[in-house]
Amino acid sequence: MERTLILFKPDALHRGLVGRLLARFEEKGLKICGLKLMRISKELAHKHYEAHKEKPFFAGLVRYMTGSPVVAAVLEGKGAVAVVRKMMGATFGFDAEPGTIRGDFSCSTSYNLVHGSDSPGAAAREIELFFSPEELQDWTPGYFRLGYDPEELPAQG
Ligand code: RTP
Ligand code: MG
Repeated sequence: MERTLILFKPDALHRGLVGRLLARFEEKGLKICGLKLMRISKELAHKHYEAHKEKPFFAGLVRYMTGSPVVAAVLEGKGAVAVVRKMMGATFGFDAEPGTIRGDFSCSTSYNLVHGSDSPGAAAREIELFFSPEELQDWTPGYFRLGYDPEELPAQG
């Protein structure tokens, strides 16, 4: 099992889409291990998007991500990092395939509703940035029994 960090970006909240978007991940069979409404500080935004600090869109990206609250989540499942990236779709809404979150709900370059970690290494780093260990839960949802192969089930329920 793998964990990944999701951010429902400010535009997802302003458009009232958080519930619908989170439902997609739940329906897919990803387990919610952590979930919170929060305001990203400038410092956290700089750390989170460190890889983009030299890009021309960086200042605007930080303004967007810190301008109003986000909902942060840690989701867990088999291949969760890649599964979530596929479900999000390409970065720019106008490029993203229909059926993906960005393909179905965004036409924008910047306002693309969701963030998902882009590798297991990034996921580990980002989960630590956004959540303390006490904010994350280990549990086994009932639907894991239906959504996964028997040999993948944990020993205890
Ligand atoms: P994210 O990190 O938010 O999950 O998105 P991503 O991997 O698909 O895209 P990334 O290249 O990491 O870009 C981070 C976010 O910056 C904004 N962006 N704006 N104006 C532009 O050219 C531009 N390029 C990227 C988007 O909000 C993108 O998700
Ligand atoms: Mg990225």
